[in-house]
Amino acid sequence: MLLRLSPPVPDRHRSWEGVICVGVFHSSFAYFTIKDRLPQILTRVIDTLHRHKNEFFEEHGEKGVEAEKRAISFLSKLRNELQTDKPVTPLEDELPDAALWNQYLDYQRNLSNGNGEPSWFQSPWLYVECYMYRRIHAALAQNPPIDNFDVFKEGKAQNFFESQEAIIALCTYFQELVKNIKDLDKKQLQEELFKLLQVSLWGNKCDLSFSAGQDSSQKCSPLQSLENMIPYILVNDMEKLWSLLVNVNKRNTEKRNVRVDIILDNAGFELVSDLVLADFLLSSKLADEVHFHGKSIPWYVSDTTKHDFNWTVKQMQSANHMWMSRCGINWEGNLKKGVWVYCDHMFWTLPHDFASMADIAPDLYADLQKSNLLLFKGDLNYRKLTGDKKWEYTVPFHQALNKFHPSPLCSLRTLKSDTQVGLKPGQGEKIQASEPEWMVSGKYGVVQFDAAL
Ligand code: F6P
Ligand code: MG
Repeated sequence: MLLRLSPPVPDRHRSWEGVICVGVFHSSFAYFTIKDRLPQILTRVIDTLHRHKNEFFEEHGEKGVEAEKRAISFLSKLRNELQTDKPVTPLEDELPDAALWNQYLDYQRNLSNGNGEPSWFQSPWLYVECYMYRRIHAALAQNPPIDNFDVFKEGKAQNFFESQEAIIALCTYFQELVKNIKDLDKKQLQEELFKLLQVSLWGNKCDLSFSAGQDSSQKCSPLQSLENMIPYILVNDMEKLWSLLVNVNKRNTEKRNVRVDIILDNAGFELVSDLVLADFLLSSKLADEVHFHGKSIPWYVSDTTKHDFNWTVKQMQSANHMWMSRCGINWEGNLKKGVWVYCDHMFWTLPHDFASMADIAPDLYADLQKSNLLLFKGDLNYRKLTGDKKWEYTVPFHQALNKFHPSPLCSLRTLKSDTQVGLKPGQGEKIQASEPEWMVSGKYGVVQFDAAL
């Protein structure tokens, strides 16, 4: 039962300024997520720890079991705070980002203008959802010797293994393509880029936070139905991406490396689709280096950490399928040569939207400014790009970015939350009339570009 929840408040209309998504509106996806999906995720995390009790005992003896008990009690308390809409509490651990989180809480307190402490349902959805994952991290990180245990690891690996057939189909297609890539003319190269962009876009359906941790792997060939799915791409700026890459290469008189950055989202099939896209960018010479940005702590169930990234490359290498392992071997080579670079930064797992990056993480902002193109994968990145607001659908993407313009950027995202900008007049309303769930079903996607001018 929600003890401190206000009476139902009618959902506000979308506006040109955007209203921040908050769980207090009962008709909102934010409310449903905080009420049902987040507690389900916490329950699964607790179950996972229970299931590993014997393993902790075998590895660490009694100390492992004690640590597991403490972590479970911390997580049960967290679930109770959430379900009873308690005020969000400051972090008490001494992890390097704790001070920034606590400053953010102070900022939320100031915003509430003396109207009570910010609580789970009364605070911005983006904030409390991120906060939950940060507290899950604290539950483990504070409890050695199980402090390095990733409670989401099994689910991510399972998604990878259950997507085997799709991965094989994609790798086989890709290796055939690479064999002849030198003979392709501009038009053909463009078509191939568009295909792999779409595979990476639809790969974003496979996230595990959306399905509250249940199976969401890619079962069929990811290339088969691309044509049929074109109508579901609500904003399709693939032509703009192509022009940018071609022009950057043409104008590159100083022969500087053309750099593309991929701000990664989920491990499993989606990560493989991103790596194939990155491989294509190098093999086609549209780019000379790709920088990948992952998460430094387990995040939103299936997001990619350094461990997931390396694990995936290793799994591919040692796979029992010729083209899969060829991909893995090449990828390992790219990393060794330094033409692929994996990076992480604390900022990606803070609650701040990207408009605050220049202030909060100027080093990261400066790094992104060195890129020729930033590809942001997934729904959470889209929410952070646009401030997680209920914008009028026709608000330009550039405006919603709120001065976040380090370099030209593009979002590849399937819709799984209440935020969408840059649509044509009437486009959103028309779909809404026949499919009320269109914004949260993952059925629609965008390839949405901003030139940063
Ligand atoms: O509510 C759906 C959700 O869990 C959102 O909270 C979040 O934006 C999204 O799924 C995560 O999706 P993605 O992995 O695409 O960022
Ligand atoms: Mg994700």
